Amino acid sequence: MYKILAKENIAPNVDKYIIAAPDVAAKAEPGQFVVLRLHERGERIPISISNWNRAAGTITLIVQTVGHTTEQLGAMGVGDTILDLLGPLGKPALIEPMGTVACVAGGVATAIIYPEARKHKEMGNRVLTLVGARSREYLFYQEELAAISDRVLVATDDGSYGSKGFVTELLQQVIDDGIHLDQVIAIGPIPMMQAVAELTKRYDIKTVVSLNPIMLDGTGMCGACRVRVGDEIKFCCTDGPEFDGHLVDFASLMRRSRLYEKSGTKAHTPYQQKDGKGCDGQCQ
Ligand SMILES: Cc1cc2nc3c(=O)[nH]c(=O)nc-3n(C[C@H](O)[C@H](O)[C@H](O)COP(=O)(O)OP(=O)(O)OC[C@H]3O[C@@H](n4cnc5c(N)ncnc54)[C@H](O)[C@@H]3O)c2cc1C
Ligand code: FES
Repeated sequence: MYKILAKENIAPNVDKYIIAAPDVAAKAEPGQFVVLRLHERGERIPISISNWNRAAGTITLIVQTVGHTTEQLGAMGVGDTILDLLGPLGKPALIEPMGTVACVAGGVATAIIYPEARKHKEMGNRVLTLVGARSREYLFYQEELAAISDRVLVATDDGSYGSKGFVTELLQQVIDDGIHLDQVIAIGPIPMMQAVAELTKRYDIKTVVSLNPIMLDGTGMCGACRVRVGDEIKFCCTDGPEFDGHLVDFASLMRRSRLYEKSGTKAHTPYQQKDGKGCDGQCQ
C-alpha cells in the first residue's frame, strides 16, 4: 500500500501527489515511470515519476484527469492509499554532458521534462526550457523550471502568458536566433512531438521524444505498447519510453492511440453516469 502524503491542485484537472514509496524513490531516475493500480478491481495506468526524495522515501506524480482511473485517483485525498505502485519502470533518459539542450514540453508533460532538464543542468549542459500550454492557468512548475534552466520560454494557445502560439514556434525562434542545439527533448501530445521531430530533422538536430502509447502490464509481457522505430518494433515500456524522434512512426502511434480513445471513452461513460463518484471498478 502506498499512502498519499500530500495533494495539491496545480492546474485545471491537474493534481500533484506526494506518495510514500521508498522502494521507488530509492531507484527513480529521470524518464522513468510507475504503473499504479488504485484497488483490486482497478486498471493499471502508467504515470511518470516527476520528482523524488530518496531520504524521505517519497515520489511526486503529476496527474491530469482524463478518464476512469485518473478520476478515481482525483477523488482520493491525503491519507488514502494506492494498492499497487510498480516501478521505477522504463529506461532512464540518457543524459550526459553534451552542450546546449532544448527541453520542449507540452501541457502536463511539463511534469516529465522537469527531472530531465534538472539532470541536464547537473551535467553542466546549457538548458533552454520551452513550455507550451493552452493558457496561463494550465502552466505549472514555472519557478522550478526557472531555477534549473538557463532560459525558460513559454507559449500559450491564447496568448494569456508568454508568446501566443505553439511551442514549436518557440523552438523555430531559438533556431532562427542562431542558437546551436546539441539535442532537443520533446515530451507532450503525439502531434506536438511529431511537429518538433519534423522541424529538427530539417536542421539535423538530434531529437529524443518520450512516447505514451497504450500500456497494460508495463513490463514487456503484453505487447500493447509496441511502436515502430525505424525498421524495428520496440516495446515502449521496456525499450523506452524515450526514442529517436526522427525514427518514430508517429502515424501508426496516432492510429493506435485513437483506437484506445474509443475504448477509454466507453469505459468512462458508465462511470460518469452512475453517480459521479465512481463505480469502484465494477463497471470496467
Ligand atoms: C509512459 C507513460 C507516462 C505517462 N505519464 C503521465 C503523467 O505523468 N501524468 C499524466 O497525467 N498522464 C501520464 N500518462 C498518461 C496516463 O497514463 C493516461 O492519462 C491514463 O492511463 C488515463 O487513464 P484513465 O483510466 O483515467 O483514462 P481512460 O478512461 O483509460 O481514457 C480516457 C481518455 O484518456 C486518453 N488517454 C488514455 N490513456 C492515454 C495515454 N496513455 N496518453 C494520452 N491520452 C490517453 C484517451 O483519450 C482516452 O479516451 C502517461 C502515459 C504513459 C504511457
Ligand atoms: S505495456 Fe505490455 S509490453 Fe509494454
